Amino acid sequence: MPENDSTALFISAGMHPLVPYLLGQQHPSGRKLVNVQKCLRTSDIDEVGDSFHLSFFEMLGNWSLGDYFKEESIPWSYEFLTSKEWLNIDEEKLSVTVFAGDEKIPRDAESARIWEGLGIPKDRIFYLPREDNWWGPIGSTGPCGPDTEIFYDTGKEPCGSECKPGCSCGKYNEIWNNVFMEYNRTPDGEYELLEQKNVDTGMGVERTVAVLQGKDNVYEIEIFAPLVNGIKELSGIEVISEDQIRSVRIICDHSRAATFLLAEGIVPLNVEQGYVLRRVIRGAIRHGKLLGIEKEFLSVLSQIIIETYVEDYPHLKSNEDFIVTEFEKEYKKFNNTLARGLNRFNRIARNKEKIDGKDAFLLYQSFGFPIEITKELGKENDIFVDVDGFHEEFEKHQKVSRAGADKRFGSGLADKSEATVKLHTATHLLNEALRRVLGKDITQKGSNITQKRLRFDFNFDRKLTAQEKKDVEAIVNGTINEALPVKRIETTLDEAIRMGSQAAFEQKYGEKVSVYSIGDFSTELCSGPHVENTGELGRFKIIKEEGISAGVRRIRAVLE
Ligand code: GLY
Repeated sequence: MPENDSTALFISAGMHPLVPYLLGQQHPSGRKLVNVQKCLRTSDIDEVGDSFHLSFFEMLGNWSLGDYFKEESIPWSYEFLTSKEWLNIDEEKLSVTVFAGDEKIPRDAESARIWEGLGIPKDRIFYLPREDNWWGPIGSTGPCGPDTEIFYDTGKEPCGSECKPGCSCGKYNEIWNNVFMEYNRTPDGEYELLEQKNVDTGMGVERTVAVLQGKDNVYEIEIFAPLVNGIKELSGIEVISEDQIRSVRIICDHSRAATFLLAEGIVPLNVEQGYVLRRVIRGAIRHGKLLGIEKEFLSVLSQIIIETYVEDYPHLKSNEDFIVTEFEKEYKKFNNTLARGLNRFNRIARNKEKIDGKDAFLLYQSFGFPIEITKELGKENDIFVDVDGFHEEFEKHQKVSRAGADKRFGSGLADKSEATVKLHTATHLLNEALRRVLGKDITQKGSNITQKRLRFDFNFDRKLTAQEKKDVEAIVNGTINEALPVKRIETTLDEAIRMGSQAAFEQKYGEKVSVYSIGDFSTELCSGPHVENTGELGRFKIIKEEGISAGVRRIRAVLE
């Protein structure tokens, strides 16, 4: 748990507790450190179930606080990974990525040169953009920098012609990254050199062990084996089928995360850390049902986890009674409503084209379904869930602001940093540009913004051509160059519709709605916040365009 830091619910990276030292404060242990950091990444929970993502994990770090830099860090990393004396990983299986550079920070040719000098051939060194090869800051300001990432090729078939290190299909396992933290991001979004050059390396323990134990996913490593056996025993499953793998993985991840969260004294609640805990516990319970486990089981699994980790984390054992009791209590609460909620979900899904904000809110309020569970059910049943509509409904009922609602749900959206606000405005521009290039029927199906990139889902049934992507970029950049004013007005829904506003949801609003207009270019129902003028945005660039389900495409884009 972060100390003295209200901007984050959890420690999500090794650098988080070390920020003062990266900024120059003297660390009592010196300028070269190694550590193991427990991390929880709420941003990765949705990906759990694939080969390599975990919500809770342990991160190994080597730190230079103004001591060694690239010339030492890269060769040492390579030696540690490949030398017979250390991890003895086959060098042929390793490839690396380095920062491609952008308008603000130059390309990291130096790291590439050092890798080449170590014998990594050019065709295994990839230049990737900020979206992939940049780390930090924690929050909107502070230490950050380009990184070089080291990938292990699992030998799986590539997922397509563009599959390369950085692709999330499971072929490449990112085991380590070295961040060259020599910049400070200032409140106005600029980068200045720090007084000292730092190195932050982060090595995921589970991912590295997977390589050492010849596994192509983290869930088959020895630390999870007792847990997987426990799940098999509880469910009576002897051989886990393809259909069941995801559920088993999610239960492994979520039960471990929840056990560690409970050991910190967090209890399941509807707000902040407690909400994240509730979400992982309820998610695990639902997947338990999918495997046929009809009784409370997380307390049983937690004992296995405590046994596994007791030596390194004795506080798990001293909190065992509390952990077990809380798992039992939460099961009781959720089990009462889960079956009825699933029935309700199925009924709605049979009769409607989507789960709208009101439906999702009903499932949340009356049946205790965290919105993420409803979203997951939507994915499994191929029906769209209006998450934005859910948040609107939540605000209406709870009389809280969007920022308050986001904090309650522990989502990354609580971040209202300059970078995310800019990307939010860019999302509106993208929405309208897509309608102009692909047709008036385009509507938003989902949106997710981090400080690094926007992600926008929309209805369309084929891949965009290179020309279409160029046209969309040109329209967005055209509006940025025109420096259009962004204005917020409050009006009625009818008036908003009359103005031609885009809305990601079609629920009925009794009262006032908030509409953001960008010059004459677009109007959209939205609760903000946004920049005041598009001239503040920088250059818009599409990084990736892909299909995510039948008739739905996803664009990732950045502002450079
Ligand atoms: N070293 C950066 C990170 O992965 O946390």
